[in-house]
Amino acid sequence: MVKKIDPCTLVLFGASGNLSRVKLMPGLFRLDAAGRLPEHMAILSVGRGEVTREAWQADIKKMLDTKFKDGYDKAVFDRFIARNYYHANPPSDADAFRKMKATLSNEQVFPQNLAYFLSVRPTDFAPIVEQLSGAGLLDESQYWRRVLIEKPFGTNLPSAQALQASITKHLKESQIYRIDHYLGKSALQNIMLTRFANTMFEPLWNNQYIDHVQITNNEILGVGDRTEFYNNTGALRDMVQSHLLQTLALVAMEKPQDLSPESIRAEKIKLLQAIRPLPIKDLAKHAFRAQYSAGRVCVGDGHGENVAGYLDELAKEGVSASVTETYAALKLFIDNPRWQGVPFYVRTAKRMHEGNTAISIRFKKAPMQLVEGQHQNWLTLNIQPRECIKMEIESKIPGLDIATRTLSIDAPQRQTGDESIDSYESLLLNLMEGDPSLYLHISEVEAQWRLIDPIVKAWAEDQSAVHQYPAGSRDPEQSGIIFESTDQFWRYSIELGGDKH
Ligand code: BG6
Repeated sequence: MVKKIDPCTLVLFGASGNLSRVKLMPGLFRLDAAGRLPEHMAILSVGRGEVTREAWQADIKKMLDTKFKDGYDKAVFDRFIARNYYHANPPSDADAFRKMKATLSNEQVFPQNLAYFLSVRPTDFAPIVEQLSGAGLLDESQYWRRVLIEKPFGTNLPSAQALQASITKHLKESQIYRIDHYLGKSALQNIMLTRFANTMFEPLWNNQYIDHVQITNNEILGVGDRTEFYNNTGALRDMVQSHLLQTLALVAMEKPQDLSPESIRAEKIKLLQAIRPLPIKDLAKHAFRAQYSAGRVCVGDGHGENVAGYLDELAKEGVSASVTETYAALKLFIDNPRWQGVPFYVRTAKRMHEGNTAISIRFKKAPMQLVEGQHQNWLTLNIQPRECIKMEIESKIPGLDIATRTLSIDAPQRQTGDESIDSYESLLLNLMEGDPSLYLHISEVEAQWRLIDPIVKAWAEDQSAVHQYPAGSRDPEQSGIIFESTDQFWRYSIELGGDKH
């Protein structure tokens, strides 16, 4: 169902940054091409430098040319480019926000419903909100005003709460859109539908039938040019605190009363709050960290490339030692009747042998072991790069004897002709529609930090050398220490579950 969007202006802070170049501008362009932007909609890009409108439009064209190598529709381009304006907001100019207000007050050009997208350094979130408020640009008495805050919302619980306290001086909760771009992925949205729109899954979705769940994000990429950010952050805060805990919430939450944002968020909050804190004294059996060392990774068309280790990359930047993890695996338990006793393994790593994000669910042993070597069922919801649902079942090998083998039923979620929508596209649309269901409530953010903070602290305090895994390899064998039982093992995207690695 296409929702109606009010005429509005999107004010893009950090417009010349990487996110805007690679995702936001191309995403807005595609929304325009799909006819999803209202006719009266303008984009005001805000940056530190003085740039003319013409130069900025030329820069946008470059962004689109880089993204859409096969070209694009000229008429759509003309329409899109005409929506775009630029406003210089140098930090040194005390009057910058008053000037922005003056610019925006031209109602002929800028519809007065305003959505601010803050794609800036996290330390700038609160000051920008304060300045906007000071200039009267958050006042909702006549038009709506919304503020989208990029990740991370704080770097721990106290800083997230401090940020919340400072922005809520100027904003109501309904005006705040805290983004987690994983929620914009259509395969992630499919988790809820798979669970609740099919009769065959929900009855089995509990500790009576499920042995354990693995939520995995593996990447081939390393930390790239983000060494400083990454070294201050680590895999746990970068991926687990946000994207993977949100994925877990969708996998494990109770059925929402309806699909309203309030109902969905309420169930996610309950679930996140029900995750048992990790026992810090016994952390080694519940959490494992490692760093990639030099190795060889797979690039594109099956070719290999030698890459440096994480510590070597840091050394080049003048950092001589670090215990920051590029691999993190946690064992989590959920204290509610549905999940009592079921381990949820959440893991993420850079520089692995493959890039894949998936939820793999292993069911318990069948009540009757008919033949030797009978495997347990697995259900995989693959999020990326392939979006598919894969079910592994035991089946008789045709022939005179009774023996079974594992069959894999692999259903691609995406079919030829289906729309391929980037997560930022759908989230930008939701922002303009005023639909916060795919954005985080502050209680979710808090529950996520509350769980992660003690582990981050314990790991930071332990300065002993971190386990190394060669770039391009699979999970370090030692990570298996967190498994609850000796017959559990890490799943990867391609193999059948019966083949243990
Ligand atoms: C970001 C992290 O939030 O998510 C990155 O900062 C990570 O380190 C990225 O690579 C993964 O997102 P996606 O959409 O590529 O899976």
